Parts: sequence; C-alpha cells; structure tokens
Amino acid sequence: VTRGALQYTGKAKQVFTTDDPNILWVHYLDQATALNGKVKETINGKGELNSAISQLLFNYLTENGIKNHYLGSISKTDELITSLNILPIEVVTRNYASGHFVSKFDAVAMQQLSPIVQEFYYKSDALDDPFMNDSQIIALGYATSDELSKLRYESLMINQRLTELFQKANIQLIDFKLEFGRTKNGDILLADELSPDNMRLVDITTGNSLDKDVFRKHSGDVTVGYHEVLTRLQQVI
Ligand code: C5P
Repeated sequence: VTRGALQYTGKAKQVFTTDDPNILWVHYLDQATALNGKVKETINGKGELNSAISQLLFNYLTENGIKNHYLGSISKTDELITSLNILPIEVVTRNYASGHFVSKFDAVAMQQLSPIVQEFYYKSDALDDPFMNDSQIIALGYATSDELSKLRYESLMINQRLTELFQKANIQLIDFKLEFGRTKNGDILLADELSPDNMRLVDITTGNSLDKDVFRKHSGDVTVGYHEVLTRLQQVI
C-alpha cells in the first residue's frame, strides 16, 4: 500500500488516502489538545506512545473477538485502517464517576457506577460535542435504533475486555470514549484510537493518573504516564 493525499488533520492524528480505496493511512502527531481543541501543545514522543498503545489494544481486542478498523502497523507512528463511514457520535462508558460526570451531576468522585453508565455525544467541535439521547440521534438520522443497540452492546463488551486487561496491569479503567463506523456492508466497526487520550486510567497502587488528565490539569508530563501504561501492557499481553 502506498500513501496518498492528506484527507484531514484531526487533533492528534492525520489521515491519508492510499492506493486502495478501502484502506486509510493514519499518522499519529506529537500533539495534545484540551477543551475540544481550544488548548493545543506539542509533546515530543506522544505520537509514538499513542500509536503503540492503540495498536496493542486493537490487536488485543481482535484476538478477543471484537471487530475493529485496525489493519496493521506501518511504522512507530503510522498504521493502516479500514475506511469507514464514521458515525458522528462519541460513545462514553463510565465505570467510576470522574470528569464531567462529577461536575455536571454533583456526583461523588470515583464512586463505582452501577449500572455502567453509557452516554452519547454529537461529534462537533463547534458545538462542544453536545450530549444527545437515543431519540434525538434517531430522529436526526445520525444512527438507527439498531445501530445504537450495537454501539451499547459493543461498548460493554469492549469495556469488559479492557477492564480485565488493565486490571492485570494494576490499572483501573475509569471511563473512555469510543467511535464507530459503518462498513460498505452496513456492519458497525470500532474505529478511532484507543489511547490514554481517550480514557481515564489510574494506577491502582498510587492512585496517580496515567492519562490525559495530567495535561488537562497541568499536573506534569503526560508522556510519563503514557510510557508507564505502554510498558505495563507489554508485560501482561
Ligand atoms: O470529559 P468527560 O468526563 O465527559 O470524559 C469521559 C471520557 O471520555 C474521558 O476518558 C475522556 O478522555 C473521553 N473523552 C474523549 N473525547 C471527548 C470527550 C471525552 O476522549 N471529546
């Protein structure tokens, strides 16, 4: 496969076409953003770390029967993915109360949530990713009722697998965001990336954040936690 034209630049990744219309080329950038892109910073080594963690997690999910868009590695920062029609919906799964769930609902931080909380957001930087419920999504045609059921089911399966894996690495999976896309046949596949940019991860022993909260809160060098996550995952996979 050869790399073609730049299709778009996201907040932490670039996507290129390839000579195969069914395959896209992703390049991870050394960039971190917060507040939907309003705060942006270059962080050396972050692209490599996110790419390595994401590739490792996609491979792990594939081995555990969860279909996704990941096809293979090109280099330390580049990978190939299946070209999908991405749904404009972010699916957030929460095992413990944190972040906006605490600030919006007056919740006690880090309480365990039962049932596991699932939320949908409309993907729009301009609108700050507003919350959407099922009927709003279906009425506007962003996804069908059947697709929403799949998003909920797949997210719970992914949560189970990732929670088990991180547990082995002495890491607690607090919450995470997923994106999905449609294949040409209309199947729903997990897409985007799986990295500490999109999930809250806490060291079970120390309680330290090993994710992007370190960047959001300016509490240190994010790559330290990301590196820790990668090293521990490599030890348990
Ligand atoms: O900010 P909030 O508490 O809603 O975030 C929940 C989870 O979803 C966090 O792990 C966060 O990193 C992730 N998220 C994301 N992209 C967004 C919003 C949230 O990756 N646009």
